[in-house]
Amino acid sequence: MDFYILTLFPEMVMNGLSASITGRAMEKGAISVGAIDIRDYSHDKHHHVDDGPYGGGAGLVMQPGPVVEAYEALSERLGKRPRLIYMTPQGRVFDQKLAEELSMETELVFLCGHYEGIDERALELVCTDQVSIGDYVLTGGELPAMVMIDCIARLVPGVLHNEGSAEEESFQDNLLEYPQYTRPEVFRGMEVPPILLSGHHQKIHEWRRQQSIIRTLERRPDLLEKAQLTKKEQAFLEELREKSLPYQPDRPQGYLATDHADQQHGGGTDGIDAERGSEIPDGDGAQLQEPF
Ligand code: ADE
Repeated sequence: MDFYILTLFPEMVMNGLSASITGRAMEKGAISVGAIDIRDYSHDKHHHVDDGPYGGGAGLVMQPGPVVEAYEALSERLGKRPRLIYMTPQGRVFDQKLAEELSMETELVFLCGHYEGIDERALELVCTDQVSIGDYVLTGGELPAMVMIDCIARLVPGVLHNEGSAEEESFQDNLLEYPQYTRPEVFRGMEVPPILLSGHHQKIHEWRRQQSIIRTLERRPDLLEKAQLTKKEQAFLEELREKSLPYQPDRPQGYLATDHADQQHGGGTDGIDAERGSEIPDGDGAQLQEPF
């Protein structure tokens, strides 16, 4: 999969993505990442790419020419007009489902805005998708593009060592991931759940699925509607719902089914806060109307 990023800060995206797993994937050739400097397409002798907004107002708007020409030069080089995703808080909110859809493409172009946004005509000409990474406003589209590329890249065959690990974790099945443990067996008096030391693979699998269900019920009950559960797991979930334990964000992970957590923090009995999963933090709504 080939990623292209149209940006005014090519070194920022290249530095970020050249590290860790995406960096190794680039070295192996499983993905490629190319940053294209929009400023290279400026016709201005000072290489300006922005100007004040028509109609007045604060800040600068990115001019359409350099953006459109950068995309057209890339399209010509590729012999096709690949999907172009404009990073903006006004877009569709990114999630695992969209990451899976985008991972099927062979090329993706990300357009990163800065200042007060990009001239609307450029977007009309080149943009196929507008995507937000969440309901908050950042200073530019580079970090959102890096978030999306990281997430999509790990779904590309050959990027992760363990191909199974992208499949097993949070959101793949609309269940959150179960708690993980490694050496030492006892840490500050807290033991690894004994089942994980039993070597009994079927039981470990069942325990992990149960932990995932518990976690999802506690932290993201909204996801459970779409989770695929066996009859036995559905019965387990019903039982949990009857017990109705409260959500306590500061308690240790794996709380419900690990003995040490019970010893240290005691069990709760009140209702699960069903509202929590769909909560959007209170913020200044007006912020989201910024032109980015
Ligand atoms: N640019 C600025 N904020 C953004 C956000 N939340 N998502 C995508 N692009 C952005």
